[in-house]
Amino acid sequence: DAMDPLQDIHAEIQQVLVDEPRALAKEGGIIRVGVSAELDELRAIQTNGSGWLARLEQQERERTGIANLRVGFNKVFGYYLEVTKSNLHAVPQGYLRRQTLVHAERFITDELRRFEEKVLSAADRSRLLEYELFTRLREQVAAQADRLRQTAEVLGTLDVLCALAEVAAKKGWRRPEVSEEYGVRIIEGRHPVVEALTGSFVPNDLSLDESTHLLLLTGPNAAGKSTYARQAALLVLLAQIGSFLPAEAATVGVVDRIFTRVGAADFLARGLSTFMVEMMETANILRHATAKSLVILDEVGRGTGTSDGQAIAQAVAEILAQEVKAKTLFTTHYHELARLAETIPGIANARLEVREDQDEVKFLYKVVPGAAQKSYGVYVARLAGLPPQVVQRAGELLAGWQQEKERTALGTDGETGDSGESSRSGKYGANGRPAAQTVLERLLQIDPLHTTPLDALVLLAELKKLAEGTERNKVKGER
Ligand SMILES: Nc1ncnc2c1ncn2[C@@H]1O[C@H](COP(=O)(O)OP(=O)(O)OP(=O)(O)O)[C@@H](O)[C@H]1O
Ligand SMILES: [Mg+2]
Repeated sequence: DAMDPLQDIHAEIQQVLVDEPRALAKEGGIIRVGVSAELDELRAIQTNGSGWLARLEQQERERTGIANLRVGFNKVFGYYLEVTKSNLHAVPQGYLRRQTLVHAERFITDELRRFEEKVLSAADRSRLLEYELFTRLREQVAAQADRLRQTAEVLGTLDVLCALAEVAAKKGWRRPEVSEEYGVRIIEGRHPVVEALTGSFVPNDLSLDESTHLLLLTGPNAAGKSTYARQAALLVLLAQIGSFLPAEAATVGVVDRIFTRVGAADFLARGLSTFMVEMMETANILRHATAKSLVILDEVGRGTGTSDGQAIAQAVAEILAQEVKAKTLFTTHYHELARLAETIPGIANARLEVREDQDEVKFLYKVVPGAAQKSYGVYVARLAGLPPQVVQRAGELLAGWQQEKERTALGTDGETGDSGESSRSGKYGANGRPAAQTVLERLLQIDPLHTTPLDALVLLAELKKLAEGTERNKVKGER
């Protein structure tokens, strides 16, 4: 209905321009024959010029009796009549010398000069005239810009709707239920782009509602966390623009905005560091997200040191879950964050399943409840082609740190729930902090008023041993 086919503008352009105009409007060759009588005449002068010259040549041969008199053109001297040296005696009055060659002389006559002027200026004038006609057409079309824009918009909308309909029909997408409720529930959702690229895509469900609105997603590298999180954003967006979805079924509550903090797009050219950009984007999300928003945070905090990063990640997750209450997908490698689900209502853990088979790790791409235990970072690094000696050394370091951690965990009894993040234990070992902490805790248990001198000596020996034990591990780990 709103579609204006712009027939008049089309007809006008069709009528004025040739089918294949030249690229440069000032070079001519763009206006159709019949548009301007003056232009047609100027063109005729140029194309008919050769006929006129042939007639002139014939006429002058007869007049002078010089059989080999010839008309020619060169870029420097223009048109000329050429007479060989042997015939110079027959040259009539009115021939003006233009150029002397070894065997011939070249002349111009008034008649030829007038012709020359006419032809040369005709070329210039027709180019100018063509440009003028072109400019006029352009102005006429520009005057209709509003209609053009409107039609372009209608066509654009039509194009998008057709594309969505086509992909929905071809790929078996389903119609979602879009509601005013808070929750999002997707059954067997798929990431349309990754699916198209991989061929065999593992579908996953997603459920966010008032009781569970922040999903904390852990899982090894390359297990599919980012894919799952982006898929959620894409599907909610598709549902809300009226599209069918790559899912078996879905109920999608309308969101006011979708916020994403994904990838590591650098703005170094703008003078911003990776971490700076990460934090600026996160700040923007925290400022503007509401309970009606969907928030996708992919590994927030990874751009800085482990402790800082984890602290920031946890603080952000807490605010989003407790105050903003936005529907949130939060992927992280800080496995310790999984503990938040125990204390903060609204947070739930999910992980991407992997199967460990002797030396192989198999990614199943299935999202299941619970928190991940390991990152398999070294394994993925090996898959990626990191040199064997680097992979082996990393494996040794990891094993060393894990042993040390188990030992300190025993010493501090009560810290055993700490699962997985090896870089953290390594750092702590290097700081000597568990040693200090263990000794401190033991010290606090001592009541000096009820300790005999002998007990004190025994205690001192015990404390020294505690300190030494951890110190030895530290040296081993750093070797
Ligand atoms: N559901 C799925 N089905 C099939 N393949 C998948 C699926 N999800 C992810 N993949 C494949 O796994 C690859 C890695 O996924 P993704 O980048 O999401 O992992 P990640 O867990 O975010 O890893 P990292 O921790 O390194 O960021 C994808 O590029 C894709 O090829
Ligand atoms: Mg990722």
